[in-house]
Amino acid sequence: MADAALMAGKSVLVTGGTGGIGKATAIGLAALGARVGITGRDQARTEAAAAGIRAAPGRPAVDAFAADMSVLAEVRRLAAQVADTYPRLDVLVNNVGGFWAHRHLTADGSSPSLPAPTPGPD
Ligand SMILES: NC(=O)c1ccc[n+]([C@@H]2O[C@H](COP(=O)([O-])OP(=O)(O)OC[C@H]3O[C@@H](n4cnc5c(N)ncnc54)[C@H](OP(=O)(O)O)[C@@H]3O)[C@@H](O)[C@H]2O)c1
Repeated sequence: MADAALMAGKSVLVTGGTGGIGKATAIGLAALGARVGITGRDQARTEAAAAGIRAAPGRPAVDAFAADMSVLAEVRRLAAQVADTYPRLDVLVNNVGGFWAHRHLTADGSSPSLPAPTPGPD
């Protein structure tokens, strides 16, 4: 059974927290008492995933942020939004990413390969 106090008082951002490994990670960290932010590309889908995690026993605090991490301007906007929301970010789970066998560029001319740009300090 998870120790609900282990991450109490900590703020965590899980990129790609609407499904898969990221959502499972967000659920686990929320169960440990962290305030968790999750990201996804679509605001409504991300809100729905956050609401699902909030419905868990103990009603954890979960915030939803929408950003397409393959677009650098959106990563910067996300970073500013996260900095406004959390006085301090203790953990970043940089889960969004991938690897493509053939080189291609995103709409803003950057590489989409792993890891997708991180909402860290410039
Ligand atoms: N599953 C595996 O076996 C495996 C193995 C090795 C490595 N990995 C790596 O582990 C990570 C998670 O894998 P997964 O299988 O859990 O993936 P997944 O189920 O496809 O989930 C991907 C998550 O990333 C988000 N996402 C995808 N593209 C995005 C973009 N451009 N901007 C913002 N968010 C984006 C999705 O959000 P929305 O769709 O809601 O936007 C979703 O929350 C990936 O980096 C993957 O490369 C996975």
